[in-house]
Order: sequence, then C-alpha cells, then structure tokens
Amino acid sequence: MSQINRQLVLASRPQGAVTPDNFKLVETPLAPLADGELRVRNHFLSLDPYMRGRMNDSKSYAAPQPLNEVMIGGTVGEVVESKNPKFAVGDKVVAMFGWQEYGTSNGAGVQKVDDTHVPLSAYLGPVGMPGVTGWYGLNRIIAPKAGDTVVVSAASGAVGSVVGQLAKLAGARAVGIAGGADKCRYVVETLGFDACIDYKGGNLYQDLKAATPDGVDGYFENVGGDVLDATLARMNPFGRIAVCGFIAGYDGQPVPLKHPSLILTQRLLVQGFIVSEHMDVWPEALKQLGTLVAQKKLQYRETIAQGLDAAPDAFIGLLKGKNFGKQLVKLI
Ligand SMILES: NC(=O)c1ccc[n+]([C@@H]2O[C@H](COP(=O)([O-])OP(=O)(O)OC[C@H]3O[C@@H](n4cnc5c(N)ncnc54)[C@H](OP(=O)(O)O)[C@@H]3O)[C@@H](O)[C@H]2O)c1
Repeated sequence: MSQINRQLVLASRPQGAVTPDNFKLVETPLAPLADGELRVRNHFLSLDPYMRGRMNDSKSYAAPQPLNEVMIGGTVGEVVESKNPKFAVGDKVVAMFGWQEYGTSNGAGVQKVDDTHVPLSAYLGPVGMPGVTGWYGLNRIIAPKAGDTVVVSAASGAVGSVVGQLAKLAGARAVGIAGGADKCRYVVETLGFDACIDYKGGNLYQDLKAATPDGVDGYFENVGGDVLDATLARMNPFGRIAVCGFIAGYDGQPVPLKHPSLILTQRLLVQGFIVSEHMDVWPEALKQLGTLVAQKKLQYRETIAQGLDAAPDAFIGLLKGKNFGKQLVKLI
C-alpha cells in the first residue's frame, strides 16, 4: 500500500466559471491508524453539480467548502486496513471521503455495500444520492398517476435518467429534455422515455408542445432558464413542479423566470427540496433502486475520467454538459 495520499484541495474560489487553477494537488503522508479507525482505498469519486455551489462563499443550504481542504465528494472503495471491529479488510464501502485516493475514518458515515449484484460505482449513481434524489422528487412531490405526463430536464443525467424511468414504471408518459441528438436518442431508445426534446435544437417550445399533447402534469426541474420557461408554459392546472436544481445558472448568472404568473394562473405546486434533508426515505428508496438495477430494469450510463488528476477538467465538463450519464473519476 502506498504511504502517500494524493488529494485535491480547493485552492481559490471561482470568479465566474470554474478553472483548473481553483484546485491544487497535494501529497500527504498516511498516518498510522489509531484504535477504532479504518482506511479505505477509494475506487471511484463522484462528481456532482452541488459541488459548484460549495465552491462559493455565499449563503446557501450548506456551508461553503473551506479553502485548502480536500474537496467534498461521495466515494466508493475498499477497506485496506482496519482497527475498527465493525469493518474488515476487503469490505466495500460508500462514504464521503472527497477528492482523494485514501480515506481514514472512525467509521462514522461509512456504509458497507454489497457489490455482488450491483456494481460498486452504481452506489454513487442510481443506487446512491442521485437515484434517491430522483426517487424523492418524483414520488414525494410530483406523485404521478397512471396517464399523467411527466417532463424531466437533464434527462440523460444521473438524476434525470432515474426520474423518467420511475415515471414510466408508475404508468406515466415520460418526456425528457436533453442537450443534443445523441443524448435524446439514448433517452428514448435505451431509457425508454416516450419522447425527448433537444433543447439545443432551436425549437424548444414547439417541440415540447408536440411531445406533450395533453399538457404537463409533473415537471422535475434540473436546469432552469429557457427550459423552465418553456415547460411552465405547458403545465396543466394543479400541476406539480419538483425543483431539484438550476444547473444553467451555477457557473454564471442565474436566468430569471419570464412568466412567473403562470404559477398562479395554473395553480401550480412548486416545491424545492434537498435530498440530504430527507434521510427517512433513503432506506426505502435505495432498496427499490437497488432491486431495479440488479434486475436490469433501471438503466444507467457513466462517464468515467481516469485518475485523480483528471477530476478538475471532468468537473468543469459536467457544468458544460460534456458528461453523458453519471460523471465519475476512477481512482484505481
Ligand atoms: N436538490 C437536491 O438534493 C439535488 C441532489 C442531486 C442533484 N441535484 C441537481 O440535479 C441536477 C442534475 O444533477 P445530476 O447529478 O443528475 O447531473 P447530470 O445530469 O448527470 O449532469 C449535469 C447535466 O446538466 C446539464 N447541463 C449542464 N450545464 C447546463 C446548462 N448550462 N444548461 C442546461 N443544462 C446544463 C447537462 O446535460 P445536457 O447536455 O442534457 O444539457 C449535464 O450533462 C443538477 O441541477 C443538480 O444540482 C439536486
């Protein structure tokens, strides 16, 4: 085992778009374990849009990422050393060790997972935080009935892909919105959505209208901006909007809503949510999602960057839509 831990820390806060200079690679010697501790070799690091918000020093639902500390992030890996009786060498675990090759912990926040039927990396995607996010917003806010039309933006991504497939399983019509013909083809042909609109195609509202002939009953919002405006204009009375993310504004200026009065005239329920505030649903959601993935009834796709050094560029790409499915970094 290496005696050095390679880590990426936040070196500076972005002024506008994130740049590679905002991160710094440091090498730290691994200290011997104390009693009760365990050491994990991280196999995959999860890159997620929320990390962009943490890089700012501004008011939000969570504290900012401190400068010169290891960037926050979900990880999966294998226990390589243990002085904790609850963990044995070889155990596979999911944790929040962040952008580094090794994690050391007293066991708090480290969960053992079984990778016999579900690949380890899926615990950072459909059977992890993004999957539960889709599950929560769909089931607890949109609550689709058979025959409803559910629209989801960033439809080919980690969260959006789960939302549409669960909506289909609930008997709804699922319509995705995604960037580009390749992503849209995947959303329909592989994920099984009824339709997908390419918002870069230049005809967003008309294309969405054609794909939602009965209007929209539920909208799972990941993006904001023009995509939100277009979908809002298609909402049926008493429709439900689960506000999950506004990624179009994370790396620049937030895009204002053009017609907020539609919320009133269509009597819409608009509910924002943060998945980590609903830990009570995680066991039920993860059980369902894990079963669906093991049975291959829930499809997903990953974009995998190789090595810790590749993480900054992969993260910058995620904020520009370069990822196709769940963005991961393979660390081993
Ligand atoms: N509320 C919560 O608790 C919670 C938890 C997890 C995630 N989220 C949110 O859920 C959303 C999706 O997250 P994810 O992890 O599933 O990411 P993802 O969809 O796997 O990746 C991000 C996708 O967003 C789209 N995108 C990026 N920049 C964009 C832009 N400027 N305009 C429009 N679309 C853009 C791209 O897809 P296209 O190429 O299709 O545009 C990109 O592939 C994000 O808004 C995230 O913040 C919220």
